[in-house]
Amino acid sequence: MPESLITVFYLGATALFILALGGLKNNVSARRGNLYGIIGMTIAVLITVIAFVSKNHNLLILVMIAGGAIGFLLSLRVKMTQMPELVAILHSLVGLAAVLIGYANFMDPGMELVGVEKTIHEIEIFVGVCIGALTFTGSVVAYGKLSAIISGRPLMLPARHWLNLALFIAVIIVGVRFVGAESHADALAMLIAMTIIALVFGAHMVAAIGGADMPVVISMLNSYSGWAAAATGFMLSNDLLIVTGALVGSSGAILSYIMCRAMNRNFISVIAGGFGTSGGSSRAAAVGDQGDVQTIDIAETAHLLNHASEVMVVPGYGMAMAQAQHAVSEIAKMLMAKGINVRFGIHPVAGRMPGHMNVLLAEAHVPYDIVFEMDEVNDDFPSIDVSLIIGANDTVNPSAQDDEDSPIAGMPVLEVWKSEATIVLKRGMAAGYAGVDNPLFVKENTRMLFGDAKESLDLLIRAI
Ligand code: TAP
Repeated sequence: MPESLITVFYLGATALFILALGGLKNNVSARRGNLYGIIGMTIAVLITVIAFVSKNHNLLILVMIAGGAIGFLLSLRVKMTQMPELVAILHSLVGLAAVLIGYANFMDPGMELVGVEKTIHEIEIFVGVCIGALTFTGSVVAYGKLSAIISGRPLMLPARHWLNLALFIAVIIVGVRFVGAESHADALAMLIAMTIIALVFGAHMVAAIGGADMPVVISMLNSYSGWAAAATGFMLSNDLLIVTGALVGSSGAILSYIMCRAMNRNFISVIAGGFGTSGGSSRAAAVGDQGDVQTIDIAETAHLLNHASEVMVVPGYGMAMAQAQHAVSEIAKMLMAKGINVRFGIHPVAGRMPGHMNVLLAEAHVPYDIVFEMDEVNDDFPSIDVSLIIGANDTVNPSAQDDEDSPIAGMPVLEVWKSEATIVLKRGMAAGYAGVDNPLFVKENTRMLFGDAKESLDLLIRAI
């Protein structure tokens, strides 16, 4: 295929990827954005295979069918609540691919570069393998934490910052020796040494990050996987892979920034770890010290809602767990039909992935124009008659504002306790993801409606 034609197709795919990112900026255009992404990726894969692969076509097709089938089956089976884990494990595959391609490239007997070109190529390999290796183990540990295979508590090794610094310096030293190595065998030994260090670094970095910071970690690994792909693009001299990797890398970095801002954290302190770590074991005592829990039943809840004029629904991870979004949507419609003003307030890190709540509410056909970001509604709570909290916990925890010693101190939260009445739907007194006590549950105007959120809401629909 002539080079100019390849460039035209690659430019087309790049434009589609940019349109895809643009489309994902809101719920209405997200479907179209995804479609652009699918078409762009189909063009990218087909053109790359047709233009650059000259042998072993059968093997390649076999592997592509097998990989495609695994991806297809996974996408059918994975539940919405498991999406963050799936994303984490997919990031790990990007990292692993970068490592394997780096080694293949390094060992390629056809590579006969000399002088500056050789040095540049070696740096590309070194950087690509390094980012790939730390993305790989970091994502595997993130997967373990998100799926509760390993504890969400941060690993606080003594002198862990010094350990990170030592690993970083070791990578630099090994890198210098890799580029200056006299023989291929010496260079290979340095590459292997760096890979081991980067694998340890990635695992340790994510293991040291506390529960409440996991949203930032996910977007950070997303960004790393993009840079790993871009580095692979440099190794293979593939422009499209460089551009695609840079798009993923930079959008992931912007998402990390947005997540940090949403949690009032700076990136360095997230990487340093330790946020949202304590509180789990002292929970009962801490909440008990501040007052008693007051419960409410279905009939009383229906009565309060029927007589309200302003209702704010605040969903959290528990809504996703209970799959209660359709029941929530139904209740919102019933109340609106009675002339009650119903709005939804969404915290930027509610649930377990960016936009988690918005996706569920869109699936349940909640109109977009009654779904608001935290910043748009947070000043309105004093004029709200009833706040209905559906399985949210950390994102409505007043100790983020009131308690300087709280592990989530400083994180912006929805100020639901300022409304006339706050009704919290959850199964028991368990803490949220950050493992922190929540004094909201014992506030004067809070009532707890215990039970699975979907079961409670189904009963509430009948009572209303
Ligand atoms: P969480 O603080 O995680 O609390 C969820 C609550 O839902 C739990 O306290 C649980 O209490 C309740 N629940 C679970 N299953 C339920 C069910 N079937 N019915 C009713 N309630 C149920 O939720 P949140 O307020 O959405 O906060 C999100 C947290 O996750 C934040 O700490 C955030 O940093 C973290 N996180 C977010 C992301 C992203 S990107 N959004 C990624 C990783 C981590 P019971 O067990 O007592 O019912």
